[in-house]
Amino acid sequence: MPAALPTSRARIVVLLSGTGSLCAALLEATDDPAYPAEVVAVGSDRRAEGLQHATRRGLPTFVCAVGDHPDRAAWDRRLAADIAEYDPDLVVSAGFMKIVGPAVLGAFGGRLINTHPALLPAFPGAHAVRDALAAGVPVTGATVHVVDAGVDTGPVLSQREVAVAPGDDEASLHERIKEVERELLVETVARLVPAVTSRESPR
Ligand code: GAR
Repeated sequence: MPAALPTSRARIVVLLSGTGSLCAALLEATDDPAYPAEVVAVGSDRRAEGLQHATRRGLPTFVCAVGDHPDRAAWDRRLAADIAEYDPDLVVSAGFMKIVGPAVLGAFGGRLINTHPALLPAFPGAHAVRDALAAGVPVTGATVHVVDAGVDTGPVLSQREVAVAPGDDEASLHERIKEVERELLVETVARLVPAVTSRESPR
């Protein structure tokens, strides 16, 4: 007997700032009808290359740039509203290089996760791979965690190690971390779906 397919899939909004290879991996995972989530929109703080992964599939995208707002608080409120338009069960920050504020956390706290290219709490921040190399650690990796008000400080959901190879530079190490990170993100999102879809609010 074939395995039962999920009747409705969790709705994900992805946020990114760069090339979006992690977003692409998530989109590819959703091609399997048995995957328990679907990407309903992709947003960015800039006209990022990664948005094309969504547009190629006919999925909606949005750009919410800090510079288009009078201050950071106004940007944060607009970002929360932009995300809310797609009524997500889960918001995935996948290479989104901005710290969200109280409006986004108030609306999506506990359902907003981030993927980071280091074994948190080691090497938080925007230069995790460079910092790990500078520290000379033999092993680094990737972490998926819940976003809180700090910089990469929220509860860890999953981690995977990556060995630093002799001669690694920032680009080569980051690429190997991202190979692991894509799998880790796809697996972690699937594991989270039952928790984030048991909300009581009716759609
Ligand atoms: C990923 O390694 C992600 O963890 C990192 O940006 C990369 C995005 O790759 N995010 C951070 O460093 C956030 N602090 P991608 O554009 O190929 O998906």
